[in-house]
Amino acid sequence: MANDGGTSKPGYVFSAPVLSREVGGGAPEAVRRRLVLALDVDDSVLAMRWAARLRPWFGVAKVGLELFSAAGPAVIGSLLEGGFQVFVDLKMADIPNTTRKAARVLGALGVSFLTVHASAGPATLEAAVQGLAEGADRAGLAPPMALAVTILTSEAEAPIDLLSALVTSARDAGCGGAVCAAADLDQVKRVAPSLVTVVPGIRRAGADKHDQGRSATPGQAVRLGADMLVVGRAVTQADDPEKAALAIVRELSDAWTGR
Ligand code: C5P
Repeated sequence: MANDGGTSKPGYVFSAPVLSREVGGGAPEAVRRRLVLALDVDDSVLAMRWAARLRPWFGVAKVGLELFSAAGPAVIGSLLEGGFQVFVDLKMADIPNTTRKAARVLGALGVSFLTVHASAGPATLEAAVQGLAEGADRAGLAPPMALAVTILTSEAEAPIDLLSALVTSARDAGCGGAVCAAADLDQVKRVAPSLVTVVPGIRRAGADKHDQGRSATPGQAVRLGADMLVVGRAVTQADDPEKAALAIVRELSDAWTGR
């Protein structure tokens, strides 16, 4: 299935969505395509169950190291068949040749997003961008977006010089976006305004932060300029996941309409 939806095009700019207060049946499409569900489980059946359950709110499904290790590339196909854009979060950081070839495989599978560590350097970032484009081209798909991981949200601090250097490297290598903490958005946008910004570490006010050192509420992240939000345990470990998803979408709605 094609990685359609437009978000895979480098330089894509998200327009402010028209939000309704009535989101009980799910999120408006313009919000769904910005919300990434982190499927951090070790079983593809369980992952598909979570994906189907939360589909009204999340248009992008994230396959991270745990799920990919457990289920392999087959789960990507299942998620595509389920109508999701697929975000493969393998945080690649290998030598350029290996990165390019692995990215080529994933590009041909129809993923929309792939993460690469910016700290792996410009040659590896460029290799990921090229590999994704080559793979997608072979399969007749639009080029997926390489996302450069800057400084992990689990880190307590992000030195500004390091952050700026990583973002510059990502921009110059042709990455379409960057993954960063909400607190880093201002600097990321300053250095590379064209990059799509993807923010993990999302927690509602007062919630357990788990291992996230620099978390933000959905509203804070959006007000600071996040283009996409990655949400995992804030929903999957909630007593009522649908209610948690609804609360997040309502908060986003407030953040956007309050601008
Ligand atoms: O459960 P939680 O919402 O904290 O999950 C965050 C997800 O985002 C995890 O899958 C994690 O691997 C990923 N991630 C992150 N920080 C980054 C990049 C990715 O937490 N900088």
